[in-house]
Amino acid sequence: MSDLMNIGVLASGRGSNFQSIIDNIEAGHIKAVISVLITDNPDAYAIERCRKHNIESLVLKPGDFPDRNRYYSGVADELVKRGVGLVVLAGFMRVVGKALIDIFPNRIMNIHPALLPSFPGLHGQKQAVDYGVKLAGCTVHFVDEGVDTGPIIIQAAVPAYHDDTEDSLSERILRKEHLVFPYAIRLFTENRIKVNGRKVIVDGNREDQSMINPPGIK
Ligand code: GRF
Repeated sequence: MSDLMNIGVLASGRGSNFQSIIDNIEAGHIKAVISVLITDNPDAYAIERCRKHNIESLVLKPGDFPDRNRYYSGVADELVKRGVGLVVLAGFMRVVGKALIDIFPNRIMNIHPALLPSFPGLHGQKQAVDYGVKLAGCTVHFVDEGVDTGPIIIQAAVPAYHDDTEDSLSERILRKEHLVFPYAIRLFTENRIKVNGRKVIVDGNREDQSMINPPGIK
């Protein structure tokens, strides 16, 4: 049996973050295996990425389950069955239910396109543009029952300009997302992340914890 960590990915859409994780695993930067992609959307482009990279994909739609609780225990069952040690939300457009969180406490990671706790929820980038902030960015955090409220693992900042649109800022943030999400996943698979209440302690130097200019994985 391999001692590589099994990762389960949940995604609802195009899956560019999913792709960045695949690429980092294939390049040998993250020692892990993506065991399954679970999506709530049969049209998600993330499924196509699975085909290209020989990853199992599973469509589980909430509407096919009697209620939200049973949906998330169904999702948890599929992940447990595959021996998943880390669940990665890569553009999963739903608030995850307790039934899943209880099975994977501090083992579910999400990426949010804002510097939390500012601008949680949908359209974080548009909220930042409308507010007129001068620094924007993204946050990788563990998932609890709130909306983007769990302990923060890593953040990366980008400038925001007065003439930014939602699209231009989103694009700038996305480039950082593709660096910090795989980085956080690697720290987790190397067992270098501990959680103490709200605080995430990263074993390493200060540069591993807060990334104004994330270097990406080398
Ligand atoms: C990203 O902006 C991410 O921060 C948010 O959803 C979007 C997903 O994009 N959670 P993609 O599907 O990974 O391209």
